[in-house]
Amino acid sequence: MSHATISQSISIVHPISLSHGKNAEVWDTTGKRYIDFVGGIGVLNLGHCHPGVVEAIREQATKLTHYAFNAAPHAPYLELMERLSAFVPVGYPVSGMLTNSGAEAAENALKIVRGATGRTVVIAFDGAFHGRTLATLNLNGKVAPYKQKVGVLPGPVYHLPYPSADNGVTCAEALKAMDRLFSVEIDVSDVACFIIEPVQGEGGFLALDIEFAQALRRFCDANHILLIADEIQSGFGRTGQRFAFSRLGIEPDLILLGKSIAGGVPLGAVVGRKPLLDNLPKGGLGGTYSGNPIACAGALATLDAMTDAHLKTWGSQQEEAITRRYHAWRTQGVCAYLGRMTGVGAMRGIELVNADGTPASKQLTQLLELARDAGLLLMPSGKSRHIIRLLAPLTIEPAVLEEGLDILEACLRQLA
Ligand SMILES: Cc1ncc(COP(=O)(O)O)c(C=O)c1O
Repeated sequence: MSHATISQSISIVHPISLSHGKNAEVWDTTGKRYIDFVGGIGVLNLGHCHPGVVEAIREQATKLTHYAFNAAPHAPYLELMERLSAFVPVGYPVSGMLTNSGAEAAENALKIVRGATGRTVVIAFDGAFHGRTLATLNLNGKVAPYKQKVGVLPGPVYHLPYPSADNGVTCAEALKAMDRLFSVEIDVSDVACFIIEPVQGEGGFLALDIEFAQALRRFCDANHILLIADEIQSGFGRTGQRFAFSRLGIEPDLILLGKSIAGGVPLGAVVGRKPLLDNLPKGGLGGTYSGNPIACAGALATLDAMTDAHLKTWGSQQEEAITRRYHAWRTQGVCAYLGRMTGVGAMRGIELVNADGTPASKQLTQLLELARDAGLLLMPSGKSRHIIRLLAPLTIEPAVLEEGLDILEACLRQLA
């Protein structure tokens, strides 16, 4: 099918035309089958067309397809917020709001922290990704392509190194950069919030250093700064727990949700400490479609399916399979470009590097094509697009997962 009517500024990783999907498999309009290790970029932790989600959407569509919550509340929104506030593993009373997307959640969080603190400065991290809207662009810790040709962006935003065993940046280095920031660039009393991904998604599936996370929490408390965790990609079971921040032993003040929240229907959320959410004037938050009843129904069915027991089993099964195969590939030397495995749980990246340690971005592009031809969809990540991000549905059948990993191995062997 032609792309003539589509903006050329939308990048397309796989130039195919999809027709339908079932759990971890998708088919294109020519009937070709692919194993899906992209999962709609982290949206499909429950797979394509999860029966519970489909049924909930179908039933909701016969009852109420839309009502603007600002005009009159509806039951699915109210029920979802109650369920979500119990699902987010923090010790304080949770309140929140629904949005249409992850970026819209991040945008609203920026407004919420301004309202709550009366401050405007935001500190984000190198390699971060928080969205493509004008204010979120500036949060991203990567210029090309996001910040190019769009002029001056809303601020003020400063960036710090993101410490992780996966990128070699230590906690001490990040804390030193923080010291410098507050002695050279800005007064700490102007800072409204830090925003951080507990595991960076677009940045290359890098797991945040635990010691740093705890030091950051203490620093925020001491300086009346709010801490926002962006769980849009790392949440809803991706790391084997409900949310990845649990691994860090901290509680964020606000948490951004999206992607797998509603099993494939567009939805996002900002949840967090109740008093923070109530500082903007009435009408300051909301939106026509935000928290649409069909999206809420999808999210309620998602929460039904995501029991802790399921998340743990799914997460550990996928993690075990990926790490076993990765270590075998290393031992057998299947590919000269095979670098580190990054991430935690079932949120795993595999780096491709040249002999001198530089990113093997060209080879990753080649791998994406080889894999697609062989029936496997993969997605790149990392500042240099040299890290394969593995985002297969958590519900993937073990045999299909192994089949996908077999294809990946065969393609790694062919890299030149
Ligand atoms: C961590 C993170 N935050 C925010 C976003 C933006 O979400 P959306 O594309 O739904 O606006 C993304 C999308 O990839 C993401 O991975």
